[in-house]
Amino acid sequence: MINIKHNTPALVLAPMDGVTDAPMRAVQGESGAFTFAVSEFLRVSVEALPKKTFHKYVPELLSDGLTLSGLPVQVQLLGGDSGRMAQSAFAAFEAGAKAIDINFGCPAPTVNRHDGGATLLKYPERIREIVRAVRNAVPIDIPVSAKLRLGWDTLDAIYENADMAAEGGASWLTIHGRTRAQGYAPPAYWNPIGQVRARVGIPVTANGDIWNIEEFRRCQEETGCIHFMLGRGALANPLLSRQVASELGLLPAVDRLKTDAPFDWIPLLERLVEYTHIFSENASYQTVRRIKQWLSMASKFGDFKDFDSVKRALSTEEIFETLANIRNGSTTSSSPVILTDSLVSS
Ligand SMILES: Cc1cc2nc3c(=O)[nH]c(=O)nc-3n(C[C@H](O)[C@H](O)[C@H](O)COP(=O)(O)O)c2cc1C
Repeated sequence: MINIKHNTPALVLAPMDGVTDAPMRAVQGESGAFTFAVSEFLRVSVEALPKKTFHKYVPELLSDGLTLSGLPVQVQLLGGDSGRMAQSAFAAFEAGAKAIDINFGCPAPTVNRHDGGATLLKYPERIREIVRAVRNAVPIDIPVSAKLRLGWDTLDAIYENADMAAEGGASWLTIHGRTRAQGYAPPAYWNPIGQVRARVGIPVTANGDIWNIEEFRRCQEETGCIHFMLGRGALANPLLSRQVASELGLLPAVDRLKTDAPFDWIPLLERLVEYTHIFSENASYQTVRRIKQWLSMASKFGDFKDFDSVKRALSTEEIFETLANIRNGSTTSSSPVILTDSLVSS
């Protein structure tokens, strides 16, 4: 059952188009830290989406809405036409969706030009209309939520937009603390998220720029939230989700942070390869690309310092060999000391 409730903490894996696909959701689900994941957005354009599209892009729907590692997956829709969004939501439900999220935050110019994502932040009443149409299209036990940025170009647009989404019948809101104009440029503004939480009457999930446990604590303090969504931070630092989940009481408490060995990426990436082979017809090409994508994020935003060695590799075998050499100290690695994998006490 996918839900966000007032008094129950939750940690959600963010939707990231081209990144958190089915194999990645399955890998992330293995940590046991996440309450559920949100699918990458499915865009409703000139026609409502058929059932088969949901099965193609959210294959978990064919196995009771769970990743191969048991993590529930919520389906996200994006679009500006309330009728087609409603029809698509119903098709998603028929395909097996247990909860629907609506994307009001995507900043991509093509999406925005075609009346989707963050564009709708300029039209609060349309947010209400779309949420209401989707809400009415699926049975009442299927939660419908909305994911918003703070505004198109002003932070305070969130208040009216959040009210409208709640009026439309959203079960909860997820707020990424940036405007569309900000793109992904720091900082993320958490304070307005807390203001909305205090006044809107439905649960609010805080999102944006939680890169480490200290930032998580600051976000918690600034927003007063008990619901959080992690995106890039969860990938850049694979131990972060478990640290956050421990602090939220979703996992046993972290007993100590060992800092005497670098994080071993190999087992995690091997799992990604296994899952990619299950889902992809073109797995060999896919896995090289996906591993590099992940490690590139870890190098840009986390502590992984060896991306230069990995990026030259042409095959998964070569990548794993390079990583093994780094682990065994037979290449000059400049990896700093980071958290080990044995974080959570049993
Ligand atoms: C590559 C990428 C793809 C994204 N795709 C989606 C998407 O499909 N749907 C959505 O609601 N948000 C999407 N987002 C936004 C994230 O869900 C999240 O709100 C944002 O990254 C801020 O959280 P973070 O700082 O924890 O990453 C995407 C972000 C990135 C970086």
